[in-house]
Amino acid sequence: MTEGEPTADAVRSQEARSPAASQGTVSELMMPHHVNNLGNVFGGVILSMVDRAATVAAMRHAGRSCVTVSIDRVDFREPIYAGELVTCHACVTYVGTTSMEIGVSVFAADLLSGVERHTNTCFLTFVAIDDDNRPVQVPRLELQSDNDRQRFHEGRRRREVRQALALEFGEKEKR
Ligand SMILES: CC(C)(COP(=O)(O)OP(=O)(O)OC[C@H]1O[C@@H](n2cnc3c(N)ncnc32)[C@H](O)[C@@H]1OP(=O)(O)O)[C@@H](O)C(=O)NCCC(=O)NCCS
Repeated sequence: MTEGEPTADAVRSQEARSPAASQGTVSELMMPHHVNNLGNVFGGVILSMVDRAATVAAMRHAGRSCVTVSIDRVDFREPIYAGELVTCHACVTYVGTTSMEIGVSVFAADLLSGVERHTNTCFLTFVAIDDDNRPVQVPRLELQSDNDRQRFHEGRRRREVRQALALEFGEKEKR
């Protein structure tokens, strides 16, 4: 490498990638050990799947190891039961410098009737890390559709809201 030539990392971080290119899916059949005494699947089981699906999308986009730095509020408005197939679809909605917002949609399907319910959507923030576990720049997001642009706009707005909340409630200013 000659002086002034960009490093391999810099070149990689400049390559834009579309949300479609990094989508991740995690699917699992809910069993009796996944449910509470009412027969509803534990929220933590769903959260674990959400986190894993989001990890797939983050790592595909960044091309690196990524860690979860934050999970936004998650609402459980509909119960999910043993015997249903839960599928989490994840895609990158917004990228900052080293962080990415990942949106995850959760579906529960009754395999006998074929009826599928969209039970949750939530947003997580991941950070790409280098070999020394330090934050490292991620590729830009190539917005290919109106839907991509809308999600990016909403992701940027959510980031602003997170930063405002962190400021108001005393977390680190830069967040
Ligand atoms: C993620 C981690 C490497 C970030 O290190 P850091 O020194 O705090 O990094 P920075 O303050 O420079 O922030 C890095 C990015 O994360 C974002 N970030 C930091 N805290 C955040 C939070 N609470 N919510 C959302 N984004 C956050 C910053 O805005 C920044 O984004 P940008 O580069 O796109 O502007 C570090 O906090 C860590 O190792 N956390 C533990 C991760 C973990 O173990 N997760 C669970 C298992 S995967």
